[in-house]
Amino acid sequence: MLVLGIESSCDECSIAIVEDGKRILSNVVATQIPLHRQYQGVVPEIASRTHTQWIEGVARQAFADAGVAPAQIGGIAATFQPGLIGSLAVGLSFAKAMAFALSVPFKGINHMLAHLYAPRLVADIAYPFLGLLVSGGHSIICVAEDFDKVRVLGTTIDDAVGEAFDKVAKHYGYGYPGGQVIDDLAEKGDDRAFRFPAPSLHKGDHRYDLSYSGLKTAVIHHLDSYRRDGAPATPENICASFRKAAIDALLAKLLLAAEDTGISTIVAGGGVAANAYLRRSLAARKDLAVHFPPLALCGDNGAMVAGIAYHYFARGETDGFDLAPQSRVPIFKRGLNPA
Ligand code: KG4
Ligand code: ZN
Repeated sequence: MLVLGIESSCDECSIAIVEDGKRILSNVVATQIPLHRQYQGVVPEIASRTHTQWIEGVARQAFADAGVAPAQIGGIAATFQPGLIGSLAVGLSFAKAMAFALSVPFKGINHMLAHLYAPRLVADIAYPFLGLLVSGGHSIICVAEDFDKVRVLGTTIDDAVGEAFDKVAKHYGYGYPGGQVIDDLAEKGDDRAFRFPAPSLHKGDHRYDLSYSGLKTAVIHHLDSYRRDGAPATPENICASFRKAAIDALLAKLLLAAEDTGISTIVAGGGVAANAYLRRSLAARKDLAVHFPPLALCGDNGAMVAGIAYHYFARGETDGFDLAPQSRVPIFKRGLNPA
């Protein structure tokens, strides 16, 4: 079965065609980064307007790259939650219109579940596993029991990890988007130049939760208090020390969850899964089976949407055309969490 997947939750306009949840026939990712760079962040109005202008061309390219005609498509899916509401609405409406025109099933997809599916496009991974979902909007540690069934163990109580990278880079003018820029600078720096504080969280119920606002404030406003004697405050050193503190905090909670649950398979997803230090640190753990998406599938892409959608279609699960986009998913954020 050929599934067409649309991802438009933020600033990537992406459409892919994937066979049987596995074989990527095409995956066109049109990034809006150059349009948002001058604002040092995604401007929702520009994002949705640009999706509207680009989506037809991206779809045509996805068909051309795959060498497939619309009549061969067996199902159509689009991200419907979480994300920027206007951006989601563009991809979702386009998907519904195509499904209606082609008389094929339609399914709305959760963006974070799609990120968690990305490594499964290149490897067979058995459930259950521990999921590490790290992006610009989320930092989630979860147990995945199936492609559509996750139990959130921990989440950030304030900023997401990618957001902290973006804010530090913006403050110091390192470049946009911040995650990759900081990662690259960090490779050339000394991560012992600054000793930033580990997040302090209340112990108790939420032992896997994360917090990034304290670290962000330390790096942005109190840099000198954490500088080690004689260490030069170069961008490379600031980035290396910040990256180590940010990722070590993530690793500590993830490894705690692995120990507590006895689950030793770890699957990472989301933009921050591209982080070189995170990838190296987990790859070095010989006691764990670690799966990262290839770099091209860490960020937002249509292939992960088409890939996961196949499994819903295989079960006969579809959505009606009245499915509405949703900006937030309560279980992914502490405070909105019913538990
Ligand atoms: O998954 P994604 O493309 O979009 C969201 O769903 O948010 O993730 C984007 C986030 C941004 O915060 C970006 O700075 C971060 O992922 N990111 C990185 C790296 N590459 C992208 N963070 C750390 N290291 C990287 N190499
Ligand atoms: Zn994402």
